[in-house]
Formats: sequence, C-alpha cells, structure tokens
Amino acid sequence: MKSLRKTMQVTLLVVFVFFLGCDSKSTDQQVKVPKKEAIDISGFQSIENVSSVTEETRQVYQRYCAQCHGEKGHGDGINAPYLVVPPRDHTKGDYLETRSDQQLFDVIKLGGLAVGRAPCMPAWGYTFEDKTIHSLVSYIRELCDCKSL
Ligand code: HEC
Repeated sequence: MKSLRKTMQVTLLVVFVFFLGCDSKSTDQQVKVPKKEAIDISGFQSIENVSSVTEETRQVYQRYCAQCHGEKGHGDGINAPYLVVPPRDHTKGDYLETRSDQQLFDVIKLGGLAVGRAPCMPAWGYTFEDKTIHSLVSYIRELCDCKSL
C-alpha cells in the first residue's frame, strides 16, 4: 500500500514536471512573440504623420537650423566652424538615404545625444510640435532629394 502511494507520488511528480517543462517552453515562446509585437510604433512616420513643407517650415529652418546647417542646408552655417562635430550636410543624399524618417524625426526632437550622435545637435522637442518636426523631416528630404530608408 505504502509503495503504491509512493509510486503514485512519483508519477504525479513526473507528470507535474513534464507539464511544467512544456509550460515553461511555451511561456518562452509567448514572451518572445509579444515582445516583437510590442515595439513602440507610436511615433513612426505613418502616412497621416507626413507633414508637407510649408512656407513656415522654410522659415523655421532658416531661423533655427541654418546657423549650423547653413541657409541651403550644406552644413556650412555661421556657427559650423566652432562646432567640434560638423553639422550634417542636409543636401547629401548618400548619407541621408541610409536614415529613416523616424531616425531624422528622433534626432530633431530628442537631440544628437539621445540617438548616439553629437550633443551639439540640440533637441527641439520643447520648441516645436511634432507636426512641425515632421515637416522639417520632409524639408530635409526635399533638400537631399532622397527618400527615407
Ligand atoms: C548648434 C548647431 C545646430 C543647430 C542649431 C541644429 N543642428 Fe542639426 N546637427 C548639428 C550637428 C553638429 C549635427 C551632427 C551630429 C553628428 O553627426 O553626430 C547635426 C545633425 C543633424 C541631423 C542629422 C542626424 C544624423 O543622423 O546624423 C539632422 C536631421 C539635423 N541635425 C536636423 C536639424 C534641424 C531640423 C535643426 C533645426 C530645427 C537643426 N538640426 C539645428 C548641429 C545643429
């Protein structure tokens, strides 16, 4: 009788471990899948987020960006010689087409430092609404005559 109980206990344990094993495997998979899906896409430049370039966009660029990036975006603004890292030439498509619109948006909104670039590229998130930043991205695409990655 005693040994029967023991056998049952062992069997239960084996069954339990077996299920636990299966379960932890499937939890692994369950964890992986939502992680992939859970990438935050809230700021991505979806179609409705593309703001077209207006006269205001050009003025914003002249007023806030040109002193470093140059009036025509060649990276030769009046402050450029004094910066440790040269401001990006916004007319150079060969580099800018390796960047997505989202990456340009992020660097403008959050600043160079936040995206692993030079801190002398300031953050503009407190100065401009997202819409204006999206339109600046569009304007840079116009300057480089290139497309998002
Ligand atoms: C104080 C100077 C300065 C001002 C003002 C400035 N930038 Fe920059 N910006 C830089 C520098 C320096 C870099 C290069 C960063 C690097 O390569 O690490 C840069 C890089 C960039 C880049 C490219 C990021 C990359 O992937 O290399 C974009 C886009 C950009 N700036 C947009 C703007 C816009 C739009 C404005 C105006 C709202 C602006 N910048 C104003 C200095 C400036």
